[in-house]
Amino acid sequence: MKSYNKFILMLFLLLILGLTGCGDKTVTNVGKLDFENPLNIPELLEPTIGSDGAKQFTLTMQSGETEFLPGKKTDTWGINGSYLGPTVRVSKGDQVAFNVVNHLSEVSTLHWHGMLLPAVMDGGPHQMIEAGETWKPNWTINQPSATTWYHPHLHGSTVRHVYRGLAGMFIIDDEDSKKLPSDYGVNDIPLIVQDKLFTRDGQLSEDNQTTFGTLGDEILVNGTYDPFLKVTASQIRFRLLNGSNARAYHFGFTDDRSFQLVANDAGILQEPVTLDRVMLSPGERAEIVVEFKPGEETILHSFNGGAGIENGEFDLLKIVAASKLTASTAIDGQLSTVPPIDAPKDAMVRQFKLSMESDINGKKMDMYRIDEVVPAGTREIWEINNFGWSHNFHIHNAAFRILDINGKEPSEYERGRKDTVFIPNGGRVRIAVEFGDYSDPNHPLMYHCHLLRHEDDGMMGQFLLVEPGTESQVPMELPKDSSGTHNHH
Ligand code: C2O
Ligand code: CU
Repeated sequence: MKSYNKFILMLFLLLILGLTGCGDKTVTNVGKLDFENPLNIPELLEPTIGSDGAKQFTLTMQSGETEFLPGKKTDTWGINGSYLGPTVRVSKGDQVAFNVVNHLSEVSTLHWHGMLLPAVMDGGPHQMIEAGETWKPNWTINQPSATTWYHPHLHGSTVRHVYRGLAGMFIIDDEDSKKLPSDYGVNDIPLIVQDKLFTRDGQLSEDNQTTFGTLGDEILVNGTYDPFLKVTASQIRFRLLNGSNARAYHFGFTDDRSFQLVANDAGILQEPVTLDRVMLSPGERAEIVVEFKPGEETILHSFNGGAGIENGEFDLLKIVAASKLTASTAIDGQLSTVPPIDAPKDAMVRQFKLSMESDINGKKMDMYRIDEVVPAGTREIWEINNFGWSHNFHIHNAAFRILDINGKEPSEYERGRKDTVFIPNGGRVRIAVEFGDYSDPNHPLMYHCHLLRHEDDGMMGQFLLVEPGTESQVPMELPKDSSGTHNHH
């Protein structure tokens, strides 16, 4: 080969490697940690009870400083604190009411990821909260138990707001979930996993821009760098939440122990599944129950999964079991009585094409365009085809079951109720979607890639949930002067 050709080939290869952000070397923190810092457990937020019986919570978005790295102060954002937010925990049937206070110096929103609720309460890009203002959503919890979460959803700025620290866990209990370990902070532990890139002086860096946005080389769990956790019970339920911008994690333990998967994003499984790995892309959750013997130690680890967002090998959390452990009842048999989501034979089928240019069906997100109109409370089949890079797909106000991935059954760890699904490069994923019952012909809901840079770049569409039979009557454009998009109080 002529050296000129070789040069061109090299350039091409470098370009590909640079774009996919993979290179030939695995990003890793293995060997760098001492597991010195006790894992932060986000405070459980206590409600006050309103005169109408609603549980009232106040969430204040604010800026602050957090010491992640020893001796270095990092500028961060948080909710009721300097980084991340408290855990909200309620039960099915509860009425909830929030004061979401924006003490930042810029507009934001707060979205309830995984929640079934009226569209105006959703906290998506249209429910903007200006600096200094308070947004007051309220609804009744009307869905099976699940580990959901909240985070900003300001169009074009979600990645920045979440990366700086605005996110928290929102747990829904019901009779099924209470049979699992449920003593918060004792045998029921939230784990919010996020990769970060730090500058030399310890600030959060938004560099290392790949097509997926910033991919970090350090890990925070619940905002704790270099964490350990001492457990005092023989069975621990971990609620794993991938709260990262783009990175995917292949969760497991360094001693390769198995564990029981008991829930996917949108609820408890019918039966536990014994596994040793669970993969989560951004926005996805899983609940696992892990058994410990007195005095033993292990490390929650993310195993290298390949290129792009799956490239990386990380120690996440050292777990040390006390010399005496509280025994808990073993988990077996039926967990949930909620039937799996199925679509009827004549179900509506919708197609979504994801491209390398961060669009869906050839279109970028437009706040004033309605892309789909869906009858409320129905079940449909959505087919998502990926024509470039890794993506995932999240639908607001819905839960779904994966029917197949490239024509094959999904992995064991992703067969339950979900609201976010990984879509591999070149992949075709079909899901049976069950939409919420609330209808509103004026306020759209979102479906989008949860790789936050892609979402900000416009890889998002809007749908309306409407009264069945009224689909053809709703306008496909929203009025440009609609002041309903802002909240002035
Ligand atoms: Cu987690 Cu549309 O968001
Ligand atoms: Cu994407």
